Amino acid sequence: AAAEKGGFPSFMEKEIHDQPMAVEQTLLGRLDEKGNLTLDELKIDESLLRSVDKIIVIACGTASYAGQVARYAIEHWCRIPTEVELAHEFRYRDPIVDERTLVVAISQSGETMDTLMAVRHAQEQGAKVVAICNTNGSTIPREADAVLYTHAGPEIAVASTKAFLAQITAAYLLGLYLAQLRGNKFKDEIGTILAELEAMPAKIQTVIDNEDQVKELARAMKDEGSVLFLGRHVGYPVALEGALKLKEIAYIHAEGFAAGELKHGPIALIDEGQPVFVIVPSPRGRDSLHAKVVSNIQEVRARGAVTIVIAEEGDESVSDYANHVFRVPAAPALLQPLLATVPLQIFACELAGAKGYDVDQPRNLAKSVTVE
Ligand code: AGP
Repeated sequence: AAAEKGGFPSFMEKEIHDQPMAVEQTLLGRLDEKGNLTLDELKIDESLLRSVDKIIVIACGTASYAGQVARYAIEHWCRIPTEVELAHEFRYRDPIVDERTLVVAISQSGETMDTLMAVRHAQEQGAKVVAICNTNGSTIPREADAVLYTHAGPEIAVASTKAFLAQITAAYLLGLYLAQLRGNKFKDEIGTILAELEAMPAKIQTVIDNEDQVKELARAMKDEGSVLFLGRHVGYPVALEGALKLKEIAYIHAEGFAAGELKHGPIALIDEGQPVFVIVPSPRGRDSLHAKVVSNIQEVRARGAVTIVIAEEGDESVSDYANHVFRVPAAPALLQPLLATVPLQIFACELAGAKGYDVDQPRNLAKSVTVE
C-alpha cells in the first residue's frame, strides 16, 4: 500500500498532489485538428442537444459542489437555464423535466444510489442524461444516455479531491461544447477559454508547491472547534467544499456561506478568535464582486474573526484585513475554483493528520454510498 501512495503518508495527500495530472488528463484529446472541441463519447444526437432548454445537474456531496461551480460557467457560456440539485432531493420532489431537459449526473464512483435513482427518475420523464463519471463501466454511466469520463485516475481516499477538480473540468468542457454546438456569442472564445483551461495544471502545481504555509497553519489550528468559510459566485461552492472537507476528515464543525448572506444572519456567529476562511474572487472579474468580498473580510475582522484569505497573487487589497493570506496564481474568474480549492484540501488533510486521524478512512463514511 505504501507504494500505491506514491511515497505520501495517505491516499488523500497523494490524490491532492495528483490534481495537475487529473485536470490535464481530463482535457486530453478533446480538441480536433481544426481547434474545435470534440466530445466523441457524447453520443447524444446533436439536434437534440441544440434543442435543450434546461439543464439540471444532479449529484451528492462534493460532486454537487462541482455542479454548483459549473452552473455559473454553463449559464454564462450557453445561456441555458441551469439548476443544480442534490440527487436525493430531486428524486422526491416533482421536478419539471421533459424531453428538452438535459440532466447531468455527476458522480466519481458512478455507484451512488441517490444519484442513480435520480437518473432513473429523470429518464422516466423523457430527459436525456449525461453522466460525468470517474469510474469506467460503473452503473451510472451504464444507465445514462451518454458519458463524459473524468480521467482523474482511481480515487481511494474517502474524501474526494482530484475527482472534484476533474468534475469541474469535464462540466466546463460540456458547457463549452454546448456553446459551440448552439453557435452562440461565446463560440469564438472557446479556443481562448480552452487555452486558459490548459494552463491550469501548471497553476495548480504552483499552489501545491506552496503547501508548507498552509500545512503550518493547519497544525497550529488543530484544536479549533469551529471554522467558517465564505465565498461568492464560484467561490461559494468552493467555501462549501472547504467546510465539507474539514467536517469529513477532521470532525470539526465547519460551515460554508455565501459571503453576501453574512449580514442576513451568520455574522452573528462571529466573535473573538473565530477562524473564517474567505475566498476572494479575481480583482479582474465581475465588477464590484471583488470589492464586496474584501468588505466582507473587513466586517468579520472588525468583529474579532481570525481571517484566512485565499487571494490572487498581487492582490494587495486584502493585506490590511487578513491574518493569513494564501496566494493562488491569476486565472480567469470562472477557473479560480480549480486553484482556490487546493489550499482548503491541504488544510483539512494536514489538520486531520495532526489530530491523529486516519484521513483516508474517516469514521462513519464510505467511499461510495450505495444505499438510499
Ligand atoms: C466527498 O468528500 C464525499 N465523500 C462525498 O460527498 C461524495 O462526493 C458523494 O458521496 C458523492 O459521491 P460520488 O461522486 O461517488 O457520487
